[in-house]
Formats: sequence, structure tokens, C-alpha cells
Amino acid sequence: MITLFKKGLARYAKSIALLVILLIVQALAMLLLPNMMSRIINNGVIPGDMGYIYTTGAIMLLVALASSSASVCIGYLSSAVSVGFCTDIRKKLFAHVDKFTLAEFDIVSSGSLTTRATNDILQVQNFLIMLLRIVVLAPIMCIGGVVLSIMSNIHLSIVVIACMPIIIIFLLVVIKKIYPVFRSMQVKLDRLNQIIKENITGVRVVRAFTAEEREIVRFEEANADMTDVSIRSQLKIATLIPMLMLIVNVGTVAVVWVGGTQISSGMMQIGDMIAIIQYLVLIMFSLLIMALVFAMMPRASVCADRLNEVFSIEPQIVNPENPKTPAELTGVVEFNNVSLTYGAGTQPAVSDISFTAKPGETTAIIGATGSGKSSIICLIPRLRDATAGSVTVDGIDVREYDLNSLRSRIGYVPQASNLFSGTIASNIAFTDDDMGVEKVERAARIAQSEEFIQNKKQKYDDPISQGGTNVSGGQRQRLAISRAIAKEADILIFDDSFSALDFKTDAALRQAIKDNTDKATVIIVAQRINTILNADKILVLDKGRIVGEGRHSELMASCPIYSEIAKTQIAMDSDGTPGKGAV
Ligand SMILES: Nc1ncnc2c1ncn2[C@@H]1O[C@H](COP(=O)(O)OP(=O)(O)OP(=O)(O)O)[C@@H](O)[C@H]1O
Ligand SMILES: [Mg+2]
Repeated sequence: MITLFKKGLARYAKSIALLVILLIVQALAMLLLPNMMSRIINNGVIPGDMGYIYTTGAIMLLVALASSSASVCIGYLSSAVSVGFCTDIRKKLFAHVDKFTLAEFDIVSSGSLTTRATNDILQVQNFLIMLLRIVVLAPIMCIGGVVLSIMSNIHLSIVVIACMPIIIIFLLVVIKKIYPVFRSMQVKLDRLNQIIKENITGVRVVRAFTAEEREIVRFEEANADMTDVSIRSQLKIATLIPMLMLIVNVGTVAVVWVGGTQISSGMMQIGDMIAIIQYLVLIMFSLLIMALVFAMMPRASVCADRLNEVFSIEPQIVNPENPKTPAELTGVVEFNNVSLTYGAGTQPAVSDISFTAKPGETTAIIGATGSGKSSIICLIPRLRDATAGSVTVDGIDVREYDLNSLRSRIGYVPQASNLFSGTIASNIAFTDDDMGVEKVERAARIAQSEEFIQNKKQKYDDPISQGGTNVSGGQRQRLAISRAIAKEADILIFDDSFSALDFKTDAALRQAIKDNTDKATVIIVAQRINTILNADKILVLDKGRIVGEGRHSELMASCPIYSEIAKTQIAMDSDGTPGKGAV
């Protein structure tokens, strides 16, 4: 937790200093009041000395007023500091996670990150509010209470002092037991969130497969698990307050017993005994709030650890210290003996990949599912780094390229076309809020989206829901393509981006891309031969290796895997050129 606090609490040093002063004022006021009261009671028995009672009473009123004003300010300051600090942490966390690329998301899942950025930070915030409220108040009240009770009556104070180690040992035992329970509680919360998220995002699959009951059972299991751990932790916390009350009540009985004997023998005044009982209550009160804060501490500390865990994940892909810039921006992409392995000890997903994609040309990659097409693609915008070999853009290794400059040159349409909540226009103009209407409309036209956008009620201002679930799969793909085209990038990458389009739209789209982006380096990943038929170069991928390279007609003759795929997809004429069935 300290590591987390070091990340930004220093900014609030002034407010915390003021808070400490106010807390000292409040603690002293609370200690002073019983002392004054005991003096009034002791003096009250002398008849006629009303003046003393009035003055002390007036001072007590002022002290009480100071104490309550301080308390209000403490409440405000502690909340302001905690909320401010946690807002900072949330901002930092978001900025940190924003630098993550694909490899980091393999370590922490997106569901767990959501819990960490919301619930975990909230737990730390609640704890910090409580901690700041009692940080000096409780120890001063506790120690002050002991000192003042010793000063009032040494014999009675022994009872007070004897209660303290019992309380402290008890607190330590409970906290030690609670810590692991809280750790598993946050993990269970992660699981619960994950199931809820999966069900909401995958609602279509759940309905279509009538898997509601199975999902309900899965949810109920996770929910019951979470409930069980919550009850277990609360049961442990529940023992805290009654046990403390028991110890203090036994203490009070002891004080009254010993005190009563002393008063009846004239060795002590009644005011002193009342003061000591009040000190005992004060001590109990301070230990109780400390106990409550200690009870919150394990959970907050688990949450802080989980946040630190995210902060400690260093993005593997960072900007190079001395980025190089190419002499000429043409857009040549070159792979030199590239391999990529996911995680240590596993087989490479792709190996020995070498090819050049030139500007003005279309390079296509085809292969069975899982053959490594997306793995190759993600190396170009540096979403992952190659395990061996190098990928260069205009002769510069992508690892030596300034990340922003590199990515700003690439228009990338990922395999899963993700849209963001907003409007159609805001999704197309994703990279530039000030993008002109003409540019947006041009991109939509090239991506064959214009027709369906014009049919929408609010045209380009029509709302898009989170993930783009309120448009069809093909429309979503076309909007994702528009977004990449609007970027006017030198390198255009389409990862299986035409799969949801009908043949006619697919052909029209490819033609429009060819006509409008004649200087760009176009890389197309496809499953359908039709999509890549006219590509300048086709790479055939099999189990992560290139097994064929060339134009369609060349591959038909030289690459059995390619001709096999082609034969299963389109009717061929005897010379290997597409027959009537092809578009
Ligand atoms: N994040 C990952 N962690 C571990 N293995 C992965 C990961 N992503 C992909 N793989 C593995 O790498 C191999 C290549 O996957 P890739 O996604 O590149 O295939 P693909 O050719 O794009 O397939 P598809 O046509 O289905 O999109 C597969 O065996 C896959 O299981
Ligand atoms: Mg893929």
C-alpha cells in the first residue's frame, strides 16, 4: 500500500499537514473535556462556588465547539485528499494501460483490469478516508487517555493499562486471519465481473444456443462463491466490536469496583472516577476506530497490491530512445526471417517469414485458420515484437522507429472490427476530431458505406453503440475500413476485413481502394481467393511458414496448397484462370 501511496500522496502534503493540525486540536479537545468535567463535579460539591462552574462550563462549551468545527473540516479534507489521490491513480492507471499492447493483455485480462480500475481503487479510497480521519486522532486519544488517567489516579489507571495489550493482541489475530480471505474475495469478484461481461457481450450466442440455464448456473456458482467468502470475512470482522465492548465493559466494572472502594474510604473524589471511566471510553473509542480501519486495511492492501501489479507490468513495446526516421517515406514493408512465439516454451506461431510489400502494390496473405496470418500482420504496427528476425518500414527496423510516427503511417483494419460508442462520423474520423466532412464522406464512399449511411435516420450523426452492436457485421467491417482509409496512411492493412461482405461489395470495395489509394502499400489477409485474385503478390501460409509466393496464375501451377484452396472455392477454367463463378 505504501508503494501505491508513494505514487501521488505527496501532492496533497499541505492538506495532510492541515489535517494533522486539526486532528491534534480535536484530540486535545476530547481529552480536555472529561478533565474539566471532573473538576466541575469535584468543585460542585462545595456550595456557593457557582462562578467556577460557570467559567469552566463556558470554556467547555468553547472547547466542544472547536472540536466539532475541527471535525467538520477533517471530514471535508480527508474526503478531498482521498478522492483526489484516487482520481490521480485512476488517471495514471488508465495512461499506463493505454501503453499496453497485446502481450500485456495476455498477463492481465480486460475483466480484471476493469475491476482494478473501479472497485479496487474505490476500496483504497474508502480506506484512505478512514485512515486520514484517525491517523493522529486515535493514537493521541489513546496515549493521552492513559497518561491523564495515570495523573488522575494511579491505582485505577492500572485497570486501563491492563485492557490495552488484550485489545491489541486480539486485533492482530483477527487481522492476520482476515487478510487471505480478502485476497480471495477480490479474485472472486474478478471472476463474477468476467462472467457478467461475457454474458452481456455474448448475449447473442447465449440466446442462440439456449445456454441461459447453463450460464445462470455458472453465474450462481460464482455468485455463491463470492457470497460465501464475503460472509466469512464479515463474520471475522463481526467479532471485533463485541469483543472490544466486552473488554471495555469488564474494565469499567473493575474501575467502578476499585474506584467505589477508594471513594467510600475518602481516598478519591467522585469526579476523578467519572473522568477515568470517560478516558476508558475514549481509549475504547480510539481503539475501536483503529480496529475498524485495521479491518478495512487487509482488503485495501490487497487492492493496492493488485493495482501495483498492473503498474509493475512494463509494456514490452516502448518507444526507442533514439528513434530513426527514414530518408524517404515511400511505404516499403520488409520482413527478414521473422519468427514470432507466444509465451516461452511454445512452438513459434510463424517462422522464417521473408517478403517485401511495395508501395502501389497489393500484397495478399492467404492460408488456413490458425496458419499465422494475423500474427504476421500485428508485427507491422508493432502490436507485438518479432521473436527473431526483423520487420522494416522504409528500411528502418520498426523497433527503432518512433512508435507514433510508425503507427500514424499505417491504416489498420483488425480482424475483429471494433467500433467505439459515438456516431458514425466520430468513428470514421477516429484519428482526428477535426477531420473535415468531405474527408469522412470520401472514406465512407471508398469503403462502400455511403449507401447504408444515407439510409440511416441521422446519416453520419447516427449513433453507434459500444462495440458497434447496432450495425450489421458487414456494415461494421465497412465502417472499420472507412476509419482506416480516412487516415490517408501510406500503408493499408486489412486483416480478413472483407469476410462479412457479399461478393459484389467486396469487388467494388477492392476496386475503389485500388483507384483511390494508388500509392499506398496494401496488405490484404483473406480467406477467399476472390478477394486476392488480382493481387500483385500472394503469400501462401501453412502452419506458420510461407509455402508459396507469386501471382494467382503462378501459384496455381506451382503451389499445391494454393491450388487446392482455389479449387474448393471457385470454378476454374482449364487454364487455371477463374471461370464464370468468380467475381
Ligand atoms: N495471444 C495468443 N497467445 C497464444 N497463442 C496465440 C495467440 N494468438 C494467436 N495464437 C496462436 O498463433 C497461431 C496463429 O494464429 P493467428 O491468429 O495468427 O492465425 P490466423 O491465420 O490469423 O487465423 P484466422 O484465419 O483464424 O484469423 C495459432 O495457432 C494461435 O492459436
Ligand atoms: Mg487472423
